[in-house]
Amino acid sequence: MKKKLVYIIGTRPEVIRSAHVILALKNDREIDFKLVHTGQHYDHLMNDVFFKELNLPHPDVNLKIGSGTHAEQTAKIMVKLEKFFAKFQPDIVAVFGDTNSSLAAALTAVKLQIPLAHLEAGCREWEMDIPEEINRRLIDHCSNILLAVSEVGVENLKREKVMGEIYNIGDPLYAVFQIVYKKSANLNIIEKLGLKKGEYFLLTIHRDKNVDNPDNFRNILDALSLYKDKMIVFPIHPRTRKQLDLLEYPSDKLSHVIFLDPLNYEEILHMVSNAELIITDSGGLQKEAFWSKVPCIVLREHTAWIEPVEYGVNHLARINTEEIKSAIAYIINNENKLKNIFSKARNPYHKKNTTINAINLLKEFAGKRW
Ligand code: UD1
Repeated sequence: MKKKLVYIIGTRPEVIRSAHVILALKNDREIDFKLVHTGQHYDHLMNDVFFKELNLPHPDVNLKIGSGTHAEQTAKIMVKLEKFFAKFQPDIVAVFGDTNSSLAAALTAVKLQIPLAHLEAGCREWEMDIPEEINRRLIDHCSNILLAVSEVGVENLKREKVMGEIYNIGDPLYAVFQIVYKKSANLNIIEKLGLKKGEYFLLTIHRDKNVDNPDNFRNILDALSLYKDKMIVFPIHPRTRKQLDLLEYPSDKLSHVIFLDPLNYEEILHMVSNAELIITDSGGLQKEAFWSKVPCIVLREHTAWIEPVEYGVNHLARINTEEIKSAIAYIINNENKLKNIFSKARNPYHKKNTTINAINLLKEFAGKRW
């Protein structure tokens, strides 16, 4: 009998980070695989482009829940998923990361006593006022099997005495990154934008704490407005676009900023690998910057991706104008030192056979209740 496995996705990061695992699950003959998309992200540039780019199968089910408050999103997903789970009777449900989609699926599964697997388990940012921290903590404590991406994740989970079993399988994103990174070298976006390698900053911001709070958003833009001698490339998330319109920030202060629509994965890696430095509040970009050997300024109080910060190549600058300025100055003035660190740094997120090991564990835990 094939094991019935449901894999949940809902937002751009889950689609990208899960790409390898989804493809392998789809091709596994021992698994009756169903891909469920919650519809949390629905814009063409936030969703469809990645399915095409990464050759992913169409979801078997799309819950089409769209945007809303946290409670609305979570509740709508739970109600719809409960019906689907009752019909399909999965042996295991897999979720990735920390989004509302992942939390909603985790709660639905655990309430129905369906075994739950959490990929990218054990990340912690130690701030309960960000939605992702609430989500990931709750998911971890509902999961039968926790797949951490590094030893730091394993330690966090052990300290919290989660009930499920913990494994470090490495980061499923790394395999996706390696393939797409190679291809991204053939693009010529920077030339088209009139830029040169190593001579622009790449900026991404989308966390609600940074963009929905006008003071925080203004602090970030104030710091960047001081670097008129640099071009700043800013692919802009739909949430950020809306908040920027409301902010009415003086456009002459941002005349050196190139605003772009959200990029596909190959395009963003092209922009990452050619940047002088990256300024971001995204989780994935912190690791992609590290893998590309480009220094990164993290616009957060804390980060789950602490290893590159400890190496000294990623820099926590919170949302403070002065800290952002001093982090930029440090990177510009320490080019050789940073190159040296990059050349020696071990990749803490890499393990052999991440995808195969993930799938074997999912099969092993299918049908295994608490
Ligand atoms: C969500 C995740 C976040 C992840 C991010 C990646 C949660 C709590 N947050 O944040 O962890 O890093 O996805 O992008 O789940 N919108 C559109 N089109 C879309 C999707 C969103 O216009 O396709 C706009 C809507 O105005 C929406 C807002 O963006 O209200 C925020 O979207 P939402 O899904 O709530 O959270 P993200 O900020 O995308």
